[in-house]
Amino acid sequence: MTVKSWRGVWVVVAVMVLCLCARAQTWVTPGAVWHDTQGKVIEAHGGGILHYGGVWYWFGTDRDPKLDPAKRYVRCYSSRDLMHWRDRGEALVLADPEHLGAHWKLERPKVYYSPATRKFVMYMHLDDAHYRYAHVGVAVSDKVTGPYHFVESFRPLGLGLRDIGQFVDDDGQAYLIFESRRTGGFFVARLSADRLKVERPAVAFVPAPLEGGALVHYKGLYYVMGSHMSGWRANPNVYATAKRLGGPWTKFREIAPGSKDTYGSQSTFLLKVKGTRRTTVIFMGDEWRPRALWDSRYLWMPLEMKDGGMLLRKPEAWRIDAKTGVVTVK
Ligand code: DGJ
Repeated sequence: MTVKSWRGVWVVVAVMVLCLCARAQTWVTPGAVWHDTQGKVIEAHGGGILHYGGVWYWFGTDRDPKLDPAKRYVRCYSSRDLMHWRDRGEALVLADPEHLGAHWKLERPKVYYSPATRKFVMYMHLDDAHYRYAHVGVAVSDKVTGPYHFVESFRPLGLGLRDIGQFVDDDGQAYLIFESRRTGGFFVARLSADRLKVERPAVAFVPAPLEGGALVHYKGLYYVMGSHMSGWRANPNVYATAKRLGGPWTKFREIAPGSKDTYGSQSTFLLKVKGTRRTTVIFMGDEWRPRALWDSRYLWMPLEMKDGGMLLRKPEAWRIDAKTGVVTVK
């Protein structure tokens, strides 16, 4: 090899090392524009996470203004480390399947895996412009990343439904969380083995009118979380705990007592990461921008879980070692 070609090899090696360092040093910056591995802005609002085959899949609504305004889109991203997210494309594209008219809504998609059928089942809140339809929609796919095919929409337990949330317990049992305006509270209901039906009776009714419902089971306690009703405006999100899913639940307390509005965010999902050294619970929230929903940001931040309580501290850049579960705050 000539001196010149050796120099070329060293340049390539140096660039590779630099790239690896940059990758290893990535931080999650709550509220900042978040890019996927191709450098494109992540569009996955009101989202949820499915952990399947050692990979995390993040599903959420894609609100890119360049998309067909008559359709609704759910985009999927995947990650092995929770830091770098690869765009897997539109998992679902729907053209008003229930004829709900202009400004119809598809919000808060959540995906479950059914070990019984080996299929993936997506739940979503479907509504008309005035939120009167109040149904949950169900779509199915053979592949985790889709395409998902719309099956039907219905009112679980015969009840009008608004925000939905997702919970899968340590025993693999899957639950749908949904807010129901008329009842003044929200429900936690078991899903059937094929994940296509919401089973009666509900496992829990929490008599608190809360949206953005989320749940996590952490060290023997269930933590249920939600936000108050103020449209897209953020408010102080609250949580309660119980030893059993059916309750009794404690009184609700604020998750971020240091902030009037949960640092400008609304809960959408609680992600439990079981590492070899620690179990970490990550708060996933949306910072909605109602006039430009596509530009809404994500506030993801590990929660401090202590003495049967949870605390969302002032957001700062952080990273997680998904293998050990250990979090570092910048
Ligand atoms: C609050 C809900 O949490 C959101 O999903 C959305 O439906 C807005 N309300 C609409 O105002």
